[in-house]
Amino acid sequence: MGQLEYKPNVRTCGINLNHWYVVARSVEVKDQPVSVTLWHNEIVLFRDSQGNINALEDRCPHRQVKLSPGKVVDDNIECAYHGWQFDKEGNCSFVPYLDERQKLPRCKIKRYPVQELDGFIWLFPGDGDSEAVSPMGLPEWEHLNYIASVAEVDCPGHYSYLIENLMDMHHGHLHDNYQAWASATLNKIDMSDTRVDVLYDAQSYYRIDKIWSISQLFFPSLRKLHPEPLRVSYVYPHWSSSLGQDFRIYCLFCPVNETTTKAYLIHFTSLESFWRLHKLPVWFRRFIKDSLFNAAKGLLEGLIVQDVEMIIQEQKAFNENPLRRNYELNRAIAKVQQLIISQFTQSMEQKINN
Ligand code: FES
Ligand SMILES: [Fe+2]
Repeated sequence: MGQLEYKPNVRTCGINLNHWYVVARSVEVKDQPVSVTLWHNEIVLFRDSQGNINALEDRCPHRQVKLSPGKVVDDNIECAYHGWQFDKEGNCSFVPYLDERQKLPRCKIKRYPVQELDGFIWLFPGDGDSEAVSPMGLPEWEHLNYIASVAEVDCPGHYSYLIENLMDMHHGHLHDNYQAWASATLNKIDMSDTRVDVLYDAQSYYRIDKIWSISQLFFPSLRKLHPEPLRVSYVYPHWSSSLGQDFRIYCLFCPVNETTTKAYLIHFTSLESFWRLHKLPVWFRRFIKDSLFNAAKGLLEGLIVQDVEMIIQEQKAFNENPLRRNYELNRAIAKVQQLIISQFTQSMEQKINN
């Protein structure tokens, strides 16, 4: 068995490609091809005539230009330059000026396993078995009692900074009046090969049980603190969290390269306590859910601006002096770093052994 001969640095560490990553929201891919980058892999997403999503390497093998500025013709993607077409498997399927004595070139580009689930496009970039692992999914996305808000995170930093930010609940200090919790105390950490689960004891004002309780979000003076369990999980490569019964947040990761991370933050407000609402017709509950979609987007974006500003500074400090060490008091962070390194090491060793 081959083994990795160096210990990766957590701030420059690659990703385990054999997982399902989120590369776009479903609504972002319409009739036109869309270009995305997942850990240095340039990928074009497009919908076929049935509306199904496909993912190919974003490179025309004819002259190595990108396919994404082209267009979709039936089930094929057509390169903008000379009009060659490629099918969903990545085979060249049509050349507009092919002489009758010529055959179609046998050039093939990489096809990626891709699927739509819970409002997002999930892609498996590795060479391993995509069916051996499942995408994390968002159980509340379709649920009529949960109102979703989505905000994009464009983070000019390594993904380790973002996941550490999300797992260290002591950083509520930064958010001041934006945050839903206070006084987090680390209670318990569980770790396996694929996840780190951390339980904090916290105080929260967030209890959505009356129609006016939503106003606490906007008026700090109305808030009343009560104890709530605050759970955060690094479900490699994504993050999920809950605060009591009413509050769920997820962060879906798309690491772009060593110093850029794209992610989506999804917040769900629960209407579970409004039992009268559950007796209403489904079409009406769906109408309420859809009408309130993105109600908390502004709040999420406010949090993201504050977090990203810190991560920019952390990345800059690392670039200037990679050897300077941090003083870490939160035990969860060591576990997160351990998981990042072990997932990457595992994927490199699989590659060496194949
Ligand atoms: S470069 Fe794509 S068709 Fe020529
Ligand atoms: Fe934050």
